[in-house]
Amino acid sequence: MQEKKILIVVGTRPNFMKASPLVKVLKKHSRFKPVLVHTGQHYDTNMSDSFFKDLSLPEPDVHLGVGSGSHAEQTGKIMIEFERICLLEKPDVVIVVGDVNSTIACALVAAKFCIPIAHIESGLRSFDRTMPEEINRLLTDQISDYLFTSCEDANQNLINEGIPENKIFFVGNVMIDSLLSHIKIAQKSNILQKLGLKKNKSLKKFAILTLHRPSNVDNPDILKGILNILNSLSRKIPIIFPSHPRTVKLIKKFKLTSMIHYTENISPYELKKANQKILATPPLSYLDFLCLMSNAALVLTDSGGIQEETTILRVPCLTLRRNTERPITIKEGTNIVVGNDSDRITKTAIKVLKDGIPKKELPKYWDGKASERIIKILNREL
Ligand code: UD1
Repeated sequence: MQEKKILIVVGTRPNFMKASPLVKVLKKHSRFKPVLVHTGQHYDTNMSDSFFKDLSLPEPDVHLGVGSGSHAEQTGKIMIEFERICLLEKPDVVIVVGDVNSTIACALVAAKFCIPIAHIESGLRSFDRTMPEEINRLLTDQISDYLFTSCEDANQNLINEGIPENKIFFVGNVMIDSLLSHIKIAQKSNILQKLGLKKNKSLKKFAILTLHRPSNVDNPDILKGILNILNSLSRKIPIIFPSHPRTVKLIKKFKLTSMIHYTENISPYELKKANQKILATPPLSYLDFLCLMSNAALVLTDSGGIQEETTILRVPCLTLRRNTERPITIKEGTNIVVGNDSDRITKTAIKVLKDGIPKKELPKYWDGKASERIIKILNREL
């Protein structure tokens, strides 16, 4: 059988967890020649390199070095650079994952060259077009040839948008492939001790917060409101906040730094110094974060992937957004969408900490084998 060259595009932190299991399966397959392309949308060591290390991802074959910018600047720059790579590499298929600017930019370039596109995590919809990711999801799916979905509601969304059924493949969740293959080694992380959460054998109860969506952090009043509520909650339970650089920049810009206790040097003394304020740290590595998340009593987040990871870890998750493109994590997981209303967040957090979350069936095919299913299908179809 003829060898097939596959370009796999990554750009941002959540892309790395999705691409890693695919690269591993592809490397074992003699018919495929994978070429890993990093757009450089995320570039800080703790937003990119540390993930390559923890996930044992090989160095990218190609680095576009695009960096930050407005949506148009970033998308445009990625397109210009990726067009050059497509001409040079002449791939048989381009794999894009998720819903970030790198995803739509590279899909658009491939579509114009008539290179088949495989989109991993197709069909998720928040039905909220104020989210940049929703635009990226809708457009990428329209121009993709192989639409790999992680849940059955995604299949239905695609059918409703007129995508032919023979392009849709329900395969499960690649992010969960990564989680399941790293959960054991993540428990060896010393992050709990470093934060003073574990003494001898006893674990202090704690919550984790992540926050980076434009709808939560770009407006000073909204961001201030959220930090206020969470500071009150942190009087009941310590809140650890591995913070996205975007959020840290905005906290500084809006002069809200006194509302958090930020530390670069994670040590067991910082929680005490935080004195019942949110304890913000730089972004954590994949394994440290996985360890922290799997041991947390509660996760508060506006991330998409974390709603899925907490579902599998069976850790209660409060989503600080008005909607979710992942409703399966509510139906079959531990997710509750609470928006940014202070009363709702506090009441729900207190209830969940007291009563926990009912145990439900886990979503179908979130079993660690999604990447194998995807490559099997590509091998058959190409
Ligand atoms: C992007 C994705 C979002 C995803 C998130 C995961 C888009 C439209 N958004 O949001 O869907 O949930 O990644 O983290 O693609 N920055 C740094 N260092 C970095 C990267 C970013 O300092 O390594 C700062 C820069 O100030 C930059 C800002 O963060 O301008 C935003 O980065 P960007 O990649 O544009 O969007 P994210 O908010 O990270």
